Amino acid sequence: MTTPAIETILTEDRRYPPSEGFAAQANAQPAIYDEDFETFWEREGRERISWFEPFTQLYEWKPPYAKWFLGGKTNVAYNCVDRHVEAGLGDKVAFHWEGEPVDERREITFADLQRETTKLANALKALGVRKGTAVGIYMGMVPETPIAMLACARIGAPHTVVFGGFSADSLSDRLRDMECEVLITQDEAWRRGTTVPLKRTADEAVAASPSVKSVVVLRRTGNEVPMQDGRDHWWDDIAMDKTACPCEPMDAEDLLYLLYTSGTTAKPKGIVHTTAGYLTGVATTHHYIFDVKPDSVYWCAADVGWVTGHSYIVYGPLANGTTGVLYEGTPDFPDKDRWWEIVERYKVDILYTAPTAIRAHMKWGTEHAEKHDLSSLRLLGSVGEPINPEAWEWYRRHIGGGRTPVVDTWWQTETGMILITPLPGVTTTKPGSATKPFPGVDAAVYDEQGNEVGPGSGGYLVLRRPWPAMLRGIHKADDRYRETYWSKYDDVYFAGDGARIDRDGDFWLLGRVDDVMNVSGHRISTIEVESALVDHPSVAEAAVCGRTDAQTGQAIVAYVTLKGSEEASVEKLEELRNHVARKIGPIAKPANIVFTPELPKTRSGKIMRRLLRDVAEERTLGDTTTLADPAVVEEIRDRAASEKTEE
Ligand code: WTA
Repeated sequence: MTTPAIETILTEDRRYPPSEGFAAQANAQPAIYDEDFETFWEREGRERISWFEPFTQLYEWKPPYAKWFLGGKTNVAYNCVDRHVEAGLGDKVAFHWEGEPVDERREITFADLQRETTKLANALKALGVRKGTAVGIYMGMVPETPIAMLACARIGAPHTVVFGGFSADSLSDRLRDMECEVLITQDEAWRRGTTVPLKRTADEAVAASPSVKSVVVLRRTGNEVPMQDGRDHWWDDIAMDKTACPCEPMDAEDLLYLLYTSGTTAKPKGIVHTTAGYLTGVATTHHYIFDVKPDSVYWCAADVGWVTGHSYIVYGPLANGTTGVLYEGTPDFPDKDRWWEIVERYKVDILYTAPTAIRAHMKWGTEHAEKHDLSSLRLLGSVGEPINPEAWEWYRRHIGGGRTPVVDTWWQTETGMILITPLPGVTTTKPGSATKPFPGVDAAVYDEQGNEVGPGSGGYLVLRRPWPAMLRGIHKADDRYRETYWSKYDDVYFAGDGARIDRDGDFWLLGRVDDVMNVSGHRISTIEVESALVDHPSVAEAAVCGRTDAQTGQAIVAYVTLKGSEEASVEKLEELRNHVARKIGPIAKPANIVFTPELPKTRSGKIMRRLLRDVAEERTLGDTTTLADPAVVEEIRDRAASEKTEE
């Protein structure tokens, strides 16, 4: 583990206080910070969501496990769909869906959601799905993805959504770990004008996942895909029964979903999220942080396959009865102004995206945004990685017209909900800072020994009090849960991020401090990529690290030692990159591979990743005295440098 370096350019002198106009109408008012933590969550829990049976105890904290809203019974799909229809909002649009092909658009109302989730829930029941049966979802950005998630929640079947860019191996690892009995997928997805063969990949994954008995296939592109008799069913053929399907009363702590995320080993962790605390957490944060109004058109441009999509495309916004935008494709298809065309068409007032996307738009130039009327925008959000002040300023000025608040929101798959963030209308923001803990959240920065560090010094971000949407563990891995988050400091959650607090008490996030890379806002473990590389028959050894990249935040660099008889070549390099894409998914493809006859190791044989990181960052080398053979690093450095000149 490395001590986080303070590399963020300090911009404490640049401040944006809230405008009076925004402050006056904001959902969050300054007094929100004065409220006692228990009063706050007690009220949000009772009022933000609807209960079949009220809870009798706010929370129970037996470190490292928390329970929230004990004794309460509710249902997530009821909260996200049915209660809005019952309140007369059936005709309200839940999603403006925009397909990647320019002429495909659909409006999905809350009544549509109710009808479609009911039909799919009935079909799942007919396939034997009951409360507690695990279901996998491997789909793209189509309305049927939230419908599938909600259909599961309706009948109490926990789901795991697997991002459509993951490989067959990654999918089957997850299906096996959760013991999914049904997989919901689609024939193909659209991406940048070409098709992604989801069903074909799903077939390969299911062949290696003995628990899966049925596959439900949505027709999206309509191209022919193989269907296995008895196992595979077209969605349209089985989701026919409109008979009411009551929302299963769920215990507050019943499992809602698992979402797998990269940790510091090769095996992804199944992060456990349960029902009532999660829903209250995401709905409450969504309400205050995004200042959502009844007539808002809110667009979170993440993929449903990541936690941002779960919490802030599906569960939070729908619980609040919000109209959202769901866009299937890439930002530059068919042209680089696609996003701005969408903002203009639907009069989006709230946009939430990742720094990587903002930097891509910056690179493409302001002319694309200038072609469109973006005056409907009222608020901008950022998530997934530290945002550099330059991108923050660009976003506010060129997308927000210099008038919108920008909320830089820090959180994780594990936290379920946003934990460090400005509250628009209340917080004075600073480009590059996620500012303050959300009301009731007790965040701090600790040094190696567990002392709280004062303003200015870097350290490790910790959370000292439970929050409603926090993870309830790692699926089937209690030891790993304790070890990863709760062993560095007693009864305090270790986030794995470096941070610094300034004189005003504002938090500055400094990136990961463990072996997790953050590439375009996607978490990828160095060890996962290393295992994929050594799985290739030509590779003897591999070491992987992230280096800073102006576009993607971090880029993956691999150092590879080939087996004796193998020759390094450009073809071999491409072969290995593609091998990683096949094993994990294209997002994990190394940006560069440096072939080297040896890797730097300590005398006890441990690869010194720190040195490889220094080489990748072109930094002066750190301490090399413990190396078995110091000449090795020099050689690697020369090779890395000569490849640079060849580029
Ligand atoms: C990073 C995404 C700085 C951080 C919601 C965290 C951020 C990891 C921010 C979680 C932010 C997320 N500023 N860093 N605003 N938001 N991160 O699980 O390193 O995909 O630990 O959840 O992303 O990534 P995950």
